[in-house]
Amino acid sequence: MEIFTTIADTQSYLKKLTQQGKSVGFVPTMGALHRGHISLLQQANLENDIVACSIFVNPIQFNKQEDLLKYPRTLNEDIAKLKEVACDVLFAPSVDEMYPEPALERFDFGHLDKVMEGKHRPGHFNGVAIVVKKLFEIVNPNRAYFGLKDFQQLKIIQTMVSTLKLNVQIVPCPTLRENDGLAMSSRNIRLSKHERSVAPAIYRVLNGIKEKAGRISPKNAEEWGISQLNKFDGMNVEYLSIVGADDLLPISEWDEKKSVVVCTAVNLGAVRLIDNLILNHHIEE
Ligand code: PAF
Repeated sequence: MEIFTTIADTQSYLKKLTQQGKSVGFVPTMGALHRGHISLLQQANLENDIVACSIFVNPIQFNKQEDLLKYPRTLNEDIAKLKEVACDVLFAPSVDEMYPEPALERFDFGHLDKVMEGKHRPGHFNGVAIVVKKLFEIVNPNRAYFGLKDFQQLKIIQTMVSTLKLNVQIVPCPTLRENDGLAMSSRNIRLSKHERSVAPAIYRVLNGIKEKAGRISPKNAEEWGISQLNKFDGMNVEYLSIVGADDLLPISEWDEKKSVVVCTAVNLGAVRLIDNLILNHHIEE
C-alpha cells in the first residue's frame, strides 16, 4: 500500500493509474477503522481496479472542540487493517495540508441540513461537504462508498454531487452491526462497560418503532421511542425523528408508498451515537 500525506503526491500517483484506464474506488474516513469501514473497502475492491482510502479527522465538521479532541486516533492500527484488506492507496494529510487557508465555502442544502444532525450540530454538514468535495478533487474517484448509518450525510453528499454535477458515483452501503444490534461506529470504543451494555437498546427501540409503524401515529411512535430510550441509565435522546427517506421532511401520517426512515442521536454518558432504520416493510435496508 502507498501512503501519502501530501495532495500533490496523491494526485500524481492516482493520475498515472487513471491514465492507464484503471478505475478508482474511494472510501473517505476519519480513521479508527472498524468492520463497517472494512466492508466499504471490500465493496470498493470488488467494483474497482484501485482502492483508495483517506484518513483525516476533519476539524471543520466538529461543532464542539471537545468532541474533536476526544475523537479516537489510531493511525498505526488503521494502516495494518488497510494492508489486510488490500487497500492500494492511503491519503492521510495534516490539517495544514488540507486547509492552508481558512475554508470559507458555503453550501446551500435547503431543508436537508436544517434538521436532525444539521439542527443539533450547526455547521457540521457544511464542513463535511467542504472536505468531501476537496477529497474528491484530490482522489478523482469513479466511485465513492458511504455507509447508510450516516443517513443524512449520505443525502447531503448525493445532493452535493448532483448539484455540482461531480463525476463520481456515490455507492450507499448497509450499516454493519455488532451481534447485539449496536451499529458499528468509531465512537463505540469510548463507551464504558456499562454504556456498552445498554447501547444496543437504540437498535431494539428503532425496531420497536418499525413494529408500531402504521398502528400508532408517527408522532406517538416518536414519543414512545424517546421515552423508552430515556429510561436507560445515562441515556439522553437528542432527537428521534420519523422522516421521509428522500426529503427528510417529518411525516404526519403513514404512507405505504413513501419510503420512511427513523433517525436518532443519543448521548450515552459523554459519547454521542447515531443510528437509523428504514421503516417501510416493503423496502428492505
Ligand atoms: O463519515 C465520516 O467519517 C466523515 O464525515 C467523512 C465522510 C469522512 C468526512 O470527513
